[in-house]
Amino acid sequence: MSYPYQIKSLEAYQEAWKKSIDAPADFWSEIANHFVWKKPWQNILDWEFKTPAIKWFEGAQLNITENCIDRHLKDKANQPAIIWEPNNPNDAHRLITYADLYELVNQFAHVLQNNGIKKGDRVCIYMGMIPELAVAVLACARIGAIHSVIFGGFSAQSIADRLQDAQAEFVITCDGAFRGPKDIPLKNVIDDALVTCPFVKRVIVYMHTKTPVSMLKGRDVWWQEEVEKIEDKHFPAACMEAEDPLFILYTSGSTGKPKGVVHSCAGYMVYTNYTFVNVFQYQPEEIFFCTADIGWITGHSYILYGPLSAGATSLMFEGIPTFPDAGRFWDIIDKYKVNILYTAPTAIRSLMAFGLGPLQNKDLGSLRVIGTVGEPINEEAWHWYDEHIGKKNCPIVDTWWQTETGGVMISNLAGITPAKPSFATLPMPGVEPLLVDEKGNEIKENNVTGNLCIRSAWPSTIRTTYGDHERCRTNYFATYDNLYFTGDGAYRDENGFYRITGRVDDVLNVSGHRIGTAEVENAINMHAGVIESAVVGYPHDVKGQGIYAYVIYNGLHGEEELIRKDIAATVTRVIGPIAKPDKIQLVSGLPKTRSGKIMRRILRKIAEGELENLGDTSTLLDSAVVDEIKNGKI
Ligand code: WT7
Repeated sequence: MSYPYQIKSLEAYQEAWKKSIDAPADFWSEIANHFVWKKPWQNILDWEFKTPAIKWFEGAQLNITENCIDRHLKDKANQPAIIWEPNNPNDAHRLITYADLYELVNQFAHVLQNNGIKKGDRVCIYMGMIPELAVAVLACARIGAIHSVIFGGFSAQSIADRLQDAQAEFVITCDGAFRGPKDIPLKNVIDDALVTCPFVKRVIVYMHTKTPVSMLKGRDVWWQEEVEKIEDKHFPAACMEAEDPLFILYTSGSTGKPKGVVHSCAGYMVYTNYTFVNVFQYQPEEIFFCTADIGWITGHSYILYGPLSAGATSLMFEGIPTFPDAGRFWDIIDKYKVNILYTAPTAIRSLMAFGLGPLQNKDLGSLRVIGTVGEPINEEAWHWYDEHIGKKNCPIVDTWWQTETGGVMISNLAGITPAKPSFATLPMPGVEPLLVDEKGNEIKENNVTGNLCIRSAWPSTIRTTYGDHERCRTNYFATYDNLYFTGDGAYRDENGFYRITGRVDDVLNVSGHRIGTAEVENAINMHAGVIESAVVGYPHDVKGQGIYAYVIYNGLHGEEELIRKDIAATVTRVIGPIAKPDKIQLVSGLPKTRSGKIMRRILRKIAEGELENLGDTSTLLDSAVVDEIKNGKI
């Protein structure tokens, strides 16, 4: 299969973009015609951003797994769909062909059904990066259950919050997960989470690390034993309406607990496929290696649904870039002759810090395209990536998008449209970005910065936040009338290229992980000695942003170091290690306005080390507190 909708020149891109905006129905129907539908659509698109209500391919019926698996059996049955590289390079890797994937997913769909899971049920998946995670996700999609994958680094409390929010009665997990030198006891974490989730009826456990676990009678079953009971290798794919939800994925916002972003079947499928094929310029039989975890949207869209719907070979890696040494990514690229590498700036920066030693004796000659995602890439990292990984011979795609957008929104197309260091450059066809000022007025000129919005719906627009549609409206569609607000700031250069400058709300991006400051504050405040706290980000060489917490502590008598450790441990327990503050400063007060609002602007400046120029402090209730905080900065 080649891709008739793959854009092959700058002119073709310009034409495609213009058509996608002027005549979106024609544009997307031509693309959607290349998929397998059980019933055709009646109406390509129907949307408004007020409430919001967004529908794509209305009237159509489909199952995404028929597009990701069944349709490739004719001519790709023996091509690997997934290449799996284990955490330990001395263990056996696995090649899962499209024929194998068909069998595994169909069998496991039977297991789900035997365990009482039906279309529309929410299924929480908490597993390490092993092929069975892909199988679990796809088997849910096969039977029409809504998967909610939770990243293996989240705590029991975070899992419980998500299970409760989605009222998920089913969990799929492993005994444990290998991550570098660590063995993470996933099933134990699930057991802790389920103490507060008595509505969970069934836990299916895949045995992987052979860590001892306790199985609860009547609730917990072994994956392997359940599969042994299945004789039928076919499972009829559930007939899904275009707008039926496909999955929920929780992500942090500026307020409250993480929200469940909902994506639906048809639009998400078409858009992830379209962007995969065009951004990376994927060619049949190439090996595509996305280093993300399937617990994040990048893994959903560009390890699973995008590549598989395009009949690609997707490489899935269980481990981390620095185990057993900092040459691991490069070894994997050489071992499998990877053609396309898609990773995060934080990974590039952390590997840069090891110098060129780990690159010695690595060939990397198979690479054709390299990409980044998740956070702004600084020019130094961009040039290092270009020179030492791409050998100045591979286009770099800098892809800007979000959990809520489902797929890449702004990016150059590899080798087709121009790249510019640290710029995501131009919008994908179907995407209409604009910049607005604080008041919501569009800024039409170039060479300007503003808040990044999107004017019209694209196929994988967020549909709702699970169980709370109003939250979806207020978060994304209420800041500016009739616009989707991204939460990011951006600069647009003289050529109309976009450079994402980072979040303009109270959301941090720590090593490419999205973390709400309010969430971290709530976790810190759970510590018995804490009276109040304020969390801000500060520039961090490797992580992009670090977490800086100012904490008012009750009865501070020496032992500061111990208190700080204890507060950090509380955050790890409540949210997970990714949210652990890098710096904790114990203070006696926080700068507040007369109306009691914490002046984060000042705290941010102090955390950044900009002690001199704190701006206007005249509205402060008590300015002495600022001096104290400045003097105590760590
Ligand atoms: C936020 C979304 C999209 C998958 C991974 C993150 C930041 C993402 C870029 C980029 C600059 C980027 C934005 C965005 N971001 N890609 N290429 N350049 N910033 O998904 O967890 O939903 O986070 O990541 O700030 O809003 P996410």
